[in-house]
Amino acid sequence: MKITFLSDNKTENSLCMAEWGLSVMIESQNHKVLFDVGASSLFLENAKNLKLPIDDVEAVVISHGHYDHTEGMEAFCDSNKDAKIFIHKNAIAKSYGTDEKGRIESYNCGIRWSDDFVKSIYDRIVFTENIVSLNDNMTIIGNIEPLKEYPMAETFYRPNHEGRLVPDSMDHEQILVVKEDGGLYVFSGCSHTGMMAIISRVREVFPQERILGIIAGMHLYPLNSSQRRAVVDTICDLGVKRIFPVHCTGMDAILMFREKLGENCVIASAGESYEF
Ligand SMILES: [Fe+2]
Ligand SMILES: [Fe+2]
Repeated sequence: MKITFLSDNKTENSLCMAEWGLSVMIESQNHKVLFDVGASSLFLENAKNLKLPIDDVEAVVISHGHYDHTEGMEAFCDSNKDAKIFIHKNAIAKSYGTDEKGRIESYNCGIRWSDDFVKSIYDRIVFTENIVSLNDNMTIIGNIEPLKEYPMAETFYRPNHEGRLVPDSMDHEQILVVKEDGGLYVFSGCSHTGMMAIISRVREVFPQERILGIIAGMHLYPLNSSQRRAVVDTICDLGVKRIFPVHCTGMDAILMFREKLGENCVIASAGESYEF
Protein backbone atom coordinates (compact mmCIF):
# COMPACT_ATOMS: atom_id res chain seq x y z
CA MET A 1 0.00 0.00 0.00
CA LYS A 2 1.12 3.51 -0.77
CA ILE A 3 -0.29 6.61 0.90
CA THR A 4 0.31 10.24 -0.05
CA PHE A 5 -0.73 13.23 2.03
CA LEU A 6 -2.26 15.78 -0.36
CA SER A 7 -3.51 18.18 2.31
CA ASP A 8 -2.25 18.61 5.86
CA ASN A 9 -1.59 21.42 8.31
CA LYS A 10 2.11 21.32 7.51
CA THR A 11 4.44 20.63 4.61
CA GLU A 12 8.16 20.29 4.06
CA ASN A 13 7.84 19.70 0.32
CA SER A 14 8.71 22.73 -1.80
CA LEU A 15 6.18 21.60 -4.45
CA CYS A 16 3.29 21.70 -1.98
CA MET A 17 1.38 24.08 0.26
CA ALA A 18 -0.20 23.47 3.67
CA GLU A 19 -3.63 24.36 5.06
CA TRP A 20 -5.77 23.43 8.08
CA GLY A 21 -7.21 20.30 6.48
CA LEU A 22 -6.69 16.68 5.55
CA SER A 23 -6.66 14.66 2.34
CA VAL A 24 -4.87 11.34 1.85
CA MET A 25 -4.49 9.33 -1.35
CA ILE A 26 -4.54 5.60 -0.68
CA GLU A 27 -3.33 3.15 -3.33
CA SER A 28 -3.78 -0.46 -2.28
CA GLN A 29 -4.29 -3.76 -4.13
CA ASN A 30 -5.39 -2.12 -7.40
CA HIS A 31 -7.68 0.33 -5.64
CA LYS A 32 -7.15 4.07 -5.59
CA VAL A 33 -9.21 5.88 -2.99
CA LEU A 34 -9.13 9.43 -1.67
CA PHE A 35 -9.76 9.88 2.05
CA ASP A 36 -11.13 13.43 2.53
CA VAL A 37 -10.58 16.36 0.16
CA GLY A 38 -9.09 19.03 2.43
CA ALA A 39 -10.30 22.58 3.11
CA SER A 40 -10.01 23.91 -0.47
CA SER A 41 -8.77 23.02 -3.95
CA LEU A 42 -5.26 22.89 -2.47
CA PHE A 43 -5.17 19.06 -2.38
CA LEU A 44 -5.63 19.10 -6.16
CA GLU A 45 -2.89 21.70 -6.72
CA ASN A 46 -0.56 19.60 -4.57
CA ALA A 47 -1.53 16.43 -6.47
CA LYS A 48 -0.82 18.17 -9.80
CA ASN A 49 2.57 19.38 -8.60
CA LEU A 50 3.37 15.85 -7.39
CA LYS A 51 2.21 14.51 -10.80
CA LEU A 52 -0.32 12.30 -9.06
CA PRO A 53 -3.43 11.88 -11.24
CA ILE A 54 -6.87 12.25 -9.65
CA ASP A 55 -9.05 11.24 -12.59
CA ASP A 56 -8.60 7.51 -11.91
CA VAL A 57 -9.58 7.71 -8.22
CA GLU A 58 -12.45 5.22 -7.85
CA ALA A 59 -13.99 6.46 -4.60
CA VAL A 60 -13.82 9.31 -2.10
CA VAL A 61 -14.48 8.60 1.56
CA ILE A 62 -15.49 11.57 3.69
CA SER A 63 -14.56 11.20 7.35
CA HIS A 64 -17.15 13.60 8.81
CA GLY A 65 -19.15 16.73 8.12
CA HIS A 66 -16.53 19.45 8.66
CA TYR A 67 -15.34 21.93 6.04
CA ASP A 68 -11.63 21.14 6.43
CA HIS A 69 -12.25 17.62 5.07
CA THR A 70 -14.89 18.47 2.47
CA GLU A 71 -14.37 21.93 0.96
CA GLY A 72 -12.23 20.56 -1.89
CA MET A 73 -15.17 18.54 -3.25
CA GLU A 74 -16.06 20.91 -6.11
CA ALA A 75 -12.45 20.84 -7.31
CA PHE A 76 -12.47 17.05 -7.04
CA CYS A 77 -15.70 16.67 -9.01
CA ASP A 78 -14.38 19.02 -11.73
CA SER A 79 -11.35 16.73 -12.19
CA ASN A 80 -12.94 13.34 -11.67
CA LYS A 81 -16.29 12.53 -13.26
CA ASP A 82 -16.81 8.96 -12.07
CA ALA A 83 -15.79 8.33 -8.47
CA LYS A 84 -18.53 7.68 -5.95
CA ILE A 85 -18.56 9.81 -2.82
CA PHE A 86 -19.11 7.88 0.42
CA ILE A 87 -20.39 10.18 3.14
CA HIS A 88 -22.43 9.50 6.27
CA LYS A 89 -26.14 10.21 5.86
CA ASN A 90 -26.05 12.83 8.66
CA ALA A 91 -22.87 14.60 7.58
CA ILE A 92 -24.25 17.41 5.40
CA ALA A 93 -25.19 20.12 7.89
CA LYS A 94 -23.98 23.34 9.46
CA SER A 95 -21.75 23.05 12.52
CA TYR A 96 -20.29 25.48 15.03
CA GLY A 97 -17.22 24.99 17.19
CA THR A 98 -16.48 26.48 20.57
CA ASP A 99 -13.72 28.83 21.63
CA GLU A 100 -11.37 28.22 24.56
CA LYS A 101 -14.04 29.55 26.96
CA GLY A 102 -16.65 27.15 25.59
CA ARG A 103 -18.56 29.91 23.74
CA ILE A 104 -20.14 28.88 20.45
CA GLU A 105 -18.28 30.38 17.51
CA SER A 106 -20.14 32.27 14.81
CA TYR A 107 -18.66 30.74 11.65
CA ASN A 108 -19.94 27.54 10.07
CA CYS A 109 -17.30 24.81 10.31
CA GLY A 110 -19.67 22.19 8.88
CA ILE A 111 -20.12 21.29 5.24
CA ARG A 112 -20.46 24.42 3.11
CA TRP A 113 -21.58 22.84 -0.17
CA SER A 114 -24.40 24.79 -1.82
CA ASP A 115 -27.76 23.07 -2.45
CA ASP A 116 -27.12 23.40 -6.19
CA PHE A 117 -23.75 21.68 -5.88
CA VAL A 118 -25.23 18.82 -3.82
CA LYS A 119 -27.97 18.41 -6.45
CA SER A 120 -25.39 18.32 -9.22
CA ILE A 121 -23.45 15.45 -7.59
CA TYR A 122 -26.39 13.64 -5.97
CA ASP A 123 -26.15 10.57 -8.22
CA ARG A 124 -22.51 10.16 -7.22
CA ILE A 125 -23.15 10.26 -3.48
CA VAL A 126 -23.49 7.05 -1.47
CA PHE A 127 -24.97 7.90 1.92
CA THR A 128 -23.43 5.58 4.49
CA GLU A 129 -24.41 4.29 7.90
CA ASN A 130 -22.66 1.82 10.18
CA ILE A 131 -20.45 -0.56 8.12
CA VAL A 132 -19.98 -0.38 4.35
CA SER A 133 -17.62 -2.60 2.40
CA LEU A 134 -15.92 -0.33 -0.14
CA ASN A 135 -14.04 -3.06 -2.01
CA ASP A 136 -12.27 -6.34 -1.27
CA ASN A 137 -9.81 -4.82 1.20
CA MET A 138 -11.36 -1.55 2.42
CA THR A 139 -14.20 -1.06 4.90
CA ILE A 140 -15.92 2.11 6.08
CA ILE A 141 -16.95 1.94 9.74
CA GLY A 142 -19.33 4.32 11.47
CA ASN A 143 -21.46 4.12 14.63
CA ILE A 144 -18.48 5.07 16.79
CA GLU A 145 -19.64 5.66 20.35
CA PRO A 146 -17.46 7.95 22.49
CA LEU A 147 -16.11 6.14 25.57
CA LYS A 148 -16.96 7.41 29.08
CA GLU A 149 -13.30 7.26 30.18
CA TYR A 150 -12.18 9.41 27.22
CA PRO A 151 -14.65 12.27 26.70
CA MET A 152 -14.69 14.10 23.37
CA ALA A 153 -12.01 16.79 23.27
CA GLU A 154 -14.29 19.46 21.81
CA THR A 155 -18.04 20.02 21.59
CA PHE A 156 -19.55 21.18 18.31
CA TYR A 157 -23.10 22.44 17.88
CA ARG A 158 -25.58 21.81 15.09
CA PRO A 159 -29.07 23.14 14.44
CA ASN A 160 -31.83 20.68 15.45
CA HIS A 161 -35.12 20.40 13.50
CA GLU A 162 -36.34 23.62 15.18
CA GLY A 163 -33.15 25.44 14.21
CA ARG A 164 -31.88 25.55 17.81
CA LEU A 165 -28.16 24.78 18.28
CA VAL A 166 -27.62 21.56 20.22
CA PRO A 167 -24.44 19.55 20.94
CA ASP A 168 -23.35 17.39 18.01
CA SER A 169 -23.07 13.69 18.90
CA MET A 170 -20.64 13.34 15.95
CA ASP A 171 -22.67 10.38 14.71
CA HIS A 172 -21.57 11.40 11.18
CA GLU A 173 -17.96 10.44 11.87
CA GLN A 174 -16.64 7.37 10.07
CA ILE A 175 -13.27 5.75 9.54
CA LEU A 176 -11.69 3.76 6.73
CA VAL A 177 -9.98 0.47 7.49
CA VAL A 178 -7.62 -1.05 4.92
CA LYS A 179 -6.76 -4.73 5.28
CA GLU A 180 -3.23 -5.64 4.23
CA ASP A 181 -1.09 -8.71 4.83
CA GLY A 182 -0.70 -9.10 8.58
CA GLY A 183 -3.27 -6.61 9.74
CA LEU A 184 -5.17 -3.36 9.45
CA TYR A 185 -4.45 0.28 8.67
CA VAL A 186 -6.94 2.71 10.21
CA PHE A 187 -7.63 6.11 8.61
CA SER A 188 -9.47 8.73 10.64
CA GLY A 189 -10.13 12.40 9.79
CA CYS A 190 -10.42 14.27 13.08
CA SER A 191 -11.27 11.47 15.56
CA HIS A 192 -13.79 13.70 17.32
CA THR A 193 -15.42 10.67 18.98
CA GLY A 194 -11.96 9.88 20.41
CA MET A 195 -9.05 7.73 19.23
CA MET A 196 -9.78 5.16 21.95
CA ALA A 197 -13.42 4.89 20.84
CA ILE A 198 -12.23 4.39 17.26
CA ILE A 199 -9.74 1.69 18.23
CA SER A 200 -12.32 -0.15 20.29
CA ARG A 201 -14.81 0.02 17.38
CA VAL A 202 -12.19 -1.42 14.98
CA ARG A 203 -11.55 -4.26 17.40
CA GLU A 204 -15.28 -4.91 17.68
CA VAL A 205 -15.64 -5.18 13.89
CA PHE A 206 -12.37 -7.04 13.28
CA PRO A 207 -11.71 -8.98 16.51
CA GLN A 208 -9.18 -11.32 14.89
CA GLU A 209 -7.04 -8.66 13.24
CA ARG A 210 -4.04 -6.70 14.46
CA ILE A 211 -3.94 -2.93 13.97
CA LEU A 212 -0.65 -2.28 12.13
CA GLY A 213 -1.01 1.43 11.48
CA ILE A 214 -3.05 4.48 12.45
CA ILE A 215 -3.17 7.45 10.10
CA ALA A 216 -5.27 10.10 11.78
CA GLY A 217 -6.01 13.60 12.78
CA MET A 218 -6.44 12.80 16.47
CA HIS A 219 -7.82 16.10 17.77
CA LEU A 220 -5.81 15.97 20.98
CA TYR A 221 -4.85 19.66 21.10
CA PRO A 222 -7.91 20.87 23.10
CA LEU A 223 -7.17 18.41 25.95
CA ASN A 224 -5.15 19.36 29.00
CA SER A 225 -1.73 17.76 29.18
CA SER A 226 -2.64 14.93 31.58
CA GLN A 227 -5.66 13.95 29.45
CA ARG A 228 -3.46 14.11 26.35
CA ARG A 229 -0.78 12.02 28.05
CA ALA A 230 -3.36 9.36 29.03
CA VAL A 231 -4.53 8.94 25.40
CA VAL A 232 -1.00 8.95 23.96
CA ASP A 233 0.28 6.40 26.51
CA THR A 234 -2.67 4.06 25.95
CA ILE A 235 -2.27 4.17 22.17
CA CYS A 236 1.50 3.59 22.45
CA ASP A 237 0.90 0.49 24.58
CA LEU A 238 -1.28 -1.14 21.91
CA GLY A 239 1.69 -2.37 19.88
CA VAL A 240 0.66 -0.58 16.68
CA LYS A 241 3.63 -0.70 14.30
CA ARG A 242 3.40 2.82 12.90
CA ILE A 243 1.44 5.91 13.85
CA PHE A 244 0.92 8.95 11.63
CA PRO A 245 -0.57 11.67 13.85
CA VAL A 246 -1.49 14.41 11.38
CA HIS A 247 -3.81 17.40 10.89
CA CYS A 248 -5.57 18.35 14.15
CA THR A 249 -3.55 16.05 16.44
CA GLY A 250 -1.57 19.01 17.78
CA MET A 251 2.21 19.32 18.01
CA ASP A 252 2.32 18.58 21.78
CA ALA A 253 0.74 15.17 21.23
CA ILE A 254 2.86 14.48 18.13
CA LEU A 255 6.01 15.08 20.19
CA MET A 256 4.68 12.85 23.00
CA PHE A 257 4.17 10.04 20.45
CA ARG A 258 7.60 10.65 18.97
CA GLU A 259 9.25 10.53 22.37
CA LYS A 260 7.66 7.16 23.15
CA LEU A 261 7.72 5.51 19.71
CA GLY A 262 10.76 7.04 18.04
CA GLU A 263 10.61 6.60 14.25
CA ASN A 264 7.49 4.47 14.53
CA CYS A 265 5.74 7.79 15.02
CA VAL A 266 5.97 9.33 11.57
CA ILE A 267 5.75 13.12 11.41
CA ALA A 268 4.02 13.22 8.04
CA SER A 269 3.03 16.30 6.07
CA ALA A 270 1.55 17.39 2.72
CA GLY A 271 3.52 16.04 -0.25
CA GLU A 272 4.98 13.02 1.57
CA SER A 273 4.38 9.42 0.44
CA TYR A 274 4.89 6.21 2.40
CA GLU A 275 4.86 2.60 1.30
CA PHE A 276 4.10 -0.33 3.55
FE1 LIG B 1 -10.33 18.49 10.95
FE1 LIG C 1 -13.46 17.95 12.36
